[in-house]
Amino acid sequence: MQLLDGKFVSEKLKLQIAEEAADIRQKIGRKPHLVAILVGHDGGSETYVASKIKNCEKVGFDSTLYRFENDITEDALLQKIEEVNNDPNTDGILVQLPLPKHISADNVTERISPEKDVDGFHPINLGRMQRNLPSFLPATPYGILLMLAEYNINTAGKHCVVVGRSNIVGSPMSILMARNTNPGNCTVTICHSRTPDIKKFTLDADILIVAIGKKNFITADMVKEGVVVIDVGMNREISNETKSGYKLYGDVDFDNVAPKSSWITPVPGGVGLMTIVGLLKNTLASAKKEIY
Ligand code: GUN
Repeated sequence: MQLLDGKFVSEKLKLQIAEEAADIRQKIGRKPHLVAILVGHDGGSETYVASKIKNCEKVGFDSTLYRFENDITEDALLQKIEEVNNDPNTDGILVQLPLPKHISADNVTERISPEKDVDGFHPINLGRMQRNLPSFLPATPYGILLMLAEYNINTAGKHCVVVGRSNIVGSPMSILMARNTNPGNCTVTICHSRTPDIKKFTLDADILIVAIGKKNFITADMVKEGVVVIDVGMNREISNETKSGYKLYGDVDFDNVAPKSSWITPVPGGVGLMTIVGLLKNTLASAKKEIY
């Protein structure tokens, strides 16, 4: 078993991003600039947004965080997005999900200018991604592709099983792994909550990507020898073992699955760190006008 080390790869790629950020700053006269919008006080969202802001600073980007209370109206939020869309000094906009129930995530996602949609969630970017045209790729799937590329994992002709069909991970990930690109060129199966006997499919996976949000969902009896395991799970549990008061668990029973795997991502220290790299690379690409 070998680790797909998100800490090592993300630090390496962030050094490259920082160099490119310094270059583009010379050319455009300002740093790449990410705007993050956070509604409410969800503990996970607070942590993830804080990490995105901190990493912007690390690589020499500007960032702005707009915070709103849970009772903000959808109209007011859409208006804020419109204002940032029109700001020539902003390269990227992200609205942290989930949003309160009275706000439509679809309306919010569609209001963000596709040219600044560094989360890659806008239907225009998703459509362009599916057609293999230049687009912002959703940050987590993008980070996973970067990780597979970094370790030269051969994906062509392999059976990739994606567990989970979310807009953020499972659905775009399945499209990316089936595309005629490297990484890609897989035969892809998507499993989800309505799939009977998920084990039947996971047992046949050469590459298993799990994004279902359930601690220890994938157990050793569900995988074959030599599988490549990508664990997207970010299950937070209260714990007195850590400084933050929370402990993070993946969707995979790492201790028992790792011995059967050829490659596996740990949690923490795996995909989560690569998501940030995906976001930073999209923001840099936007500042460089590489996509639009
Ligand atoms: N919530 C969970 N993952 C993400 C992400 O990648 N982007 C945003 N905006 N919200 C999320």
